[in-house]
Amino acid sequence: MPMSKDFLTLADWTADELRSILHRAAELKELRRKGDLPQTLQGRVIALFFEKPSLRTQVTFQAGIKQLGGHAIELRPEQVGIGTRESPRDVARNLSLWVDGIVARTYSHALVEELAEEATIPIVNGLTDLLHPCQVMADFQTIAEHAALEDSVIAYVGDGNNMANSILLGASVLGLELRLATPKTHQPALRVSERAQGLARKSGARISWSEDPVTAVAGASFVYTDTWTSMGQEDETEIRRRVFAPYQLNRELLSHAPDAWVMHCLPAHRGDEITDEILDGSRSIVFQQAENRLHAQKAILERLLAPAV
Ligand code: CP
Ligand code: NVA
Repeated sequence: MPMSKDFLTLADWTADELRSILHRAAELKELRRKGDLPQTLQGRVIALFFEKPSLRTQVTFQAGIKQLGGHAIELRPEQVGIGTRESPRDVARNLSLWVDGIVARTYSHALVEELAEEATIPIVNGLTDLLHPCQVMADFQTIAEHAALEDSVIAYVGDGNNMANSILLGASVLGLELRLATPKTHQPALRVSERAQGLARKSGARISWSEDPVTAVAGASFVYTDTWTSMGQEDETEIRRRVFAPYQLNRELLSHAPDAWVMHCLPAHRGDEITDEILDGSRSIVFQQAENRLHAQKAILERLLAPAV
């Protein structure tokens, strides 16, 4: 049995479990390339509940579920009225009676935790203000396509947001080397760093933090960034542009990491956290990350809903 019935945070999973999901994701990618779509979710119905906008997460879950023979139902938040029309707990109890799993993208991380606590079916975190674990599985799959994960030096530069938090937890579980560079005022969430420290002690992960992006990227094999203004923070856009300006991925910063591949979860704010030249350049693997969302999430769903595969 998996360690958790849900996929809310990478911290709930063991290194072996995450590795086995990544292995299956690579297998599913190869199978699809050959035109082979195993029907492992046949007869399964999964509800998608998205409070925030999405291109990649929504489409890759819908497509992935269909390719595995399952069916996705899109719930409209304004119709469900979670927390207004009905309590999150009652919504979770009802959905557990009818469908086999829920993929939720919410503002509050506490909401997906509450859904998971009450639901008897798996809840998959499709991004919250705190974490974005599905993205990181696709990212690790992408890294592994270029280098051994364990030998990679991953630098994350920019906002200590949901992406930084999730990469930090993933690296801590898997025992990787991660260098974070964020302003002092925008470091990863304290509850995440504390959990990561405990995990890193066990796995031997080498995690460091610096305010200086050059220190983080120097000699890195992968340099990752994300938007400076996450969904829900739009009012802070101008102030964030000023705070994060020294963290832009551009030719000058990347000159300190001449062998690095460039990563971004997308959507990108071109000209802010990353220049066109770098995003579209030969070292960018951002669309490979986007492609792997499909395969990684199929593997996650199989793990939760068809663990015998
Ligand atoms: N990277 C990602 O989650 O993209 P969307 O917000 O478009 O789903
Ligand atoms: N940090 C970004 C990630 C988008 C995939 C956000 O939350 O908007």
